[in-house]
Amino acid sequence: MSKVNYTADDGTVTRIDGRPGDSVMETAVRNGVPGIVGECGGSLSCATCHVFAAPETFALVGGPDDLEDEMLDGTAVERAENSRLSCQIRLEDGCEYHVTTPSTQI
Ligand code: FES
Repeated sequence: MSKVNYTADDGTVTRIDGRPGDSVMETAVRNGVPGIVGECGGSLSCATCHVFAAPETFALVGGPDDLEDEMLDGTAVERAENSRLSCQIRLEDGCEYHVTTPSTQI
């Protein structure tokens, strides 16, 4: 089991038990967490799953690869150094993740 903590733009935190192997985006959509759209279903073609990773989470998952990095230039809210597309973050068993969702995805 993994834990994912989603902090909304208004500061509301939603804590979800995630399944290892699922993405942070899939876990949000399946559990009705607001703030993540995931329009393309995780095929890295929409950038509506943008999140800001907390420092410990960013250290755990690392930065984006080249294709994700390119897609991050098209997010609705301007990217930051800790931006990731949450469909590209796969949960690992026993790990806890903290992400903040932007004010809008579209
Ligand atoms: S869900 Fe479309 S890029 Fe992540």
